Amino acid sequence: MIRKIHSAALWGLDGFAVTVECYAGPGLPRMEIIGLPDTAVKESQERIWAAAMSLKLPLPRGRITVNLAPADRKKQGSGFDLPILLSALAGTLLAGTELSDAFFIGELGLDGSLRGGNGALCLALAARDAGAKRLFVPKENAAECSVVDGLCVYGAESVSELLDHLLGTKKIEQVTFDRERILENSRPAVDFKDIKGQELAKRAAEIAAAGGHNLLLAGPPGSGKSMLAKAIPGILPRMDFEEMLETTKIHSIAGMLREGEALIRERPFRSPHHTMSFVGLAGGGASPQPGEISLAHNGVLFLDELPEFEKRSLEVLRQPLEDRQVTITRAAWKLTFPSDFMLVCAMNPCPCGYFGSDQKKCTCTPVAIERYLGKISGPLLDRIDIRIEVPALSFEELNARQAGESSEEVRARVDRARQIAAERYKDYGVRCNGALSGALTKKLCRYDDKAEAVLRSSFVSRHMSARGLDRILRLSRTIADLEGAELIGEAHVLEAVQFRFSSEKFFNR
Ligand SMILES: Nc1ncnc2c1ncn2[C@@H]1O[C@H](COP(=O)(O)OP(=O)(O)O)[C@@H](O)[C@H]1O
Ligand SMILES: [Mg+2]
Repeated sequence: MIRKIHSAALWGLDGFAVTVECYAGPGLPRMEIIGLPDTAVKESQERIWAAAMSLKLPLPRGRITVNLAPADRKKQGSGFDLPILLSALAGTLLAGTELSDAFFIGELGLDGSLRGGNGALCLALAARDAGAKRLFVPKENAAECSVVDGLCVYGAESVSELLDHLLGTKKIEQVTFDRERILENSRPAVDFKDIKGQELAKRAAEIAAAGGHNLLLAGPPGSGKSMLAKAIPGILPRMDFEEMLETTKIHSIAGMLREGEALIRERPFRSPHHTMSFVGLAGGGASPQPGEISLAHNGVLFLDELPEFEKRSLEVLRQPLEDRQVTITRAAWKLTFPSDFMLVCAMNPCPCGYFGSDQKKCTCTPVAIERYLGKISGPLLDRIDIRIEVPALSFEELNARQAGESSEEVRARVDRARQIAAERYKDYGVRCNGALSGALTKKLCRYDDKAEAVLRSSFVSRHMSARGLDRILRLSRTIADLEGAELIGEAHVLEAVQFRFSSEKFFNR
């Protein structure tokens, strides 16, 4: 009789259930694995033989054929070692053991130890959806799997520990997840109250967070651009459970969960270096991995020294900035990873860093400055609603005693503004002002007569384009939401115009 052992495989962000069947027949002792295994799966047999030898497990004699069903889907990774070994033992050691409700994932060491792998959370979700009641994984993956509702998760360090549990000789403790812990407050990487001065930049960050606008900070080295950017995840609304789960899935696939970390609760902050490869940013590879733009999903993607990034790398941002997901296409397959992030960019205003600064004289020629600023592509700049100058602080400002508002206080206002916007857009599938299309901006961003007068005069005096006008309207809408105003008023437009044009000497495009 052939017994089935359940497992799961990874494809992109999703897992799918896999059934492992084992047939032992006459022939020379060898193992053949069929069902579209990749190299890591094919090499399983060497690890399985070695582990079985060291633990003296009764593998069937003769030729063993292992089938991974469904046969038409590619299976990658080393997580099938354990289920294959168990399927080979199903007719002997485990003959009387009920395993139909159990799923198994794990890589074997030659000594029979169990090693964790990437994407365990996604596999656990797939197992649960396929009807699993019990899930057995290597101990280091147990925490992330325990997040999944309706599944008893067991983490084992070795095959012998697992077999003892299955045979009832010695039980393993179930790993549970404490949902209450999600609500525990943790501290942001940089708290707003530690940022001295920079009132304009802080206000810009608050507006950007409230409306989901992208933000560009230009200023001399050491003015606090990176510090400000790092503080932004702490003023964005807290993630809900679904967002945490999705963020954790992406980090799990990339193998970036910290040990014992069950769930990522803070919005991610990703800061890829400008030398990072295209694939590193966008994602891809032989067994497709999420890139930085997906690791930043639900959080902040910070591009420091924006003009240093290659054009091709920045081009890759355009699709996800529109679609909030990235599609990776290869000859044989196509795959989508979510990548809904807030873009924060920082740059020096010129190669030496001091153009426009009253602190130090800029040594760059006008041509060099123009070439430097010209490296940022128009279409990308177009998607950045707020661009501001971050000047260097004076000694007095840096050493000011009074503490500013904390991130938690700012977040409370951001939350309120986002709720107002979400209510307004609930029938349009839009979540925040920053994501409004041109047509919806005109339809939904309504203003009073005084605001209209300011809009008209700025439109003429600033030589605005139609798109520039939409940008001002979206920003004004967010500023009005922060205030709880129903119509956009004069003051809101004036502030938006200030944010749009204060850095005009850098970005007069
Ligand atoms: N507004 C500020 N308040 C407090 N410290 C600041 C401020 N601006 C800069 N600093 C200090 O200067 C350091 C350098 O700032 P950083 O954010 O790296 O500058 P930039 O990215 O603009 O080059 C920070 O780590 C921080 O200690
Ligand atoms: Mg910096």
